[in-house]
Amino acid sequence: MAGTETAALPRHIAIIMDGNGRWAKRRLLPRQAGHRAGLTAARHVIEGCARLHIGALTLFAFSSENWQRPQREVGNLMDLLMHALEDEVRELHANNIRIRFVGTLEAFSPDLQQGMRRAEELTVMNTGLALNIAASYGGRWDIVCAAHKLAAAAVSGHIRPDQIDEARLSRALVLPELPDPDLFIRTGGEQRLSNFLLWNLAYTELYFTDRLWPDFDEPALQTALNWYAARQRRFGRTPEQMKEEAGA
Ligand code: IPE
Ligand code: IPE
Ligand code: MG
Repeated sequence: MAGTETAALPRHIAIIMDGNGRWAKRRLLPRQAGHRAGLTAARHVIEGCARLHIGALTLFAFSSENWQRPQREVGNLMDLLMHALEDEVRELHANNIRIRFVGTLEAFSPDLQQGMRRAEELTVMNTGLALNIAASYGGRWDIVCAAHKLAAAAVSGHIRPDQIDEARLSRALVLPELPDPDLFIRTGGEQRLSNFLLWNLAYTELYFTDRLWPDFDEPALQTALNWYAARQRRFGRTPEQMKEEAGA
């Protein structure tokens, strides 16, 4: 159950980093150049969140549906991911950032899987920003996996079917230990969830900006944070109730 207070700073931010292709197209560059610029933007936003002491950041890097893109683009994205694992992880580790990958990771090449595991192992003891990279991730897949786990627990007699509740289902998802995102950001102008964290975003504040992901910098992050700070999160209650609580 979510809290009712309006926190000035989100504990957990979830971002759909969209618009790399259009950014490149505007510059008459190949889409790959947009993805490379997107990686730089991701680095800056991660650093910004770490500096602001945000607890967790979940980045949508590659959706389960993105496998349907042209083989060449998928290959380029995989190369970029490999390159990021080789080049960025040391710096993230030095900044006390804990990295996790969530999604159907077995869909990636053995090299990539190994790189992801190494990054997770290297940073597992870090206590700073919890950075989750959603890769080959789908929100429906996440819920289906949780259903499998709970069904198996019921069949083996560890739980009764009527003990399946929201808390248990939440704990069976891929981010069990984190609070739900307080702030969702999608760049690139589209106003949809594209199968991102469907369960976890139930009461998240949704921020959409036309700015393309490679142009999303620290001032843009600050604009989103200011927008978030001005939200009144009511979780079903009335504005008057919220005022009373704030005064109490
Ligand atoms: C997001 O940018 C990156 C990934 C989906 C991997 P896009 O590649 O979707 O860029 P647009 O939406 O075509 O501009
Ligand atoms: C969502 O972006 C996935 C990521 C940013 C990784 P897409 O560009 O794939 O989303 P749609 O297809 O426009 O909904
Ligand atoms: Mg897109």
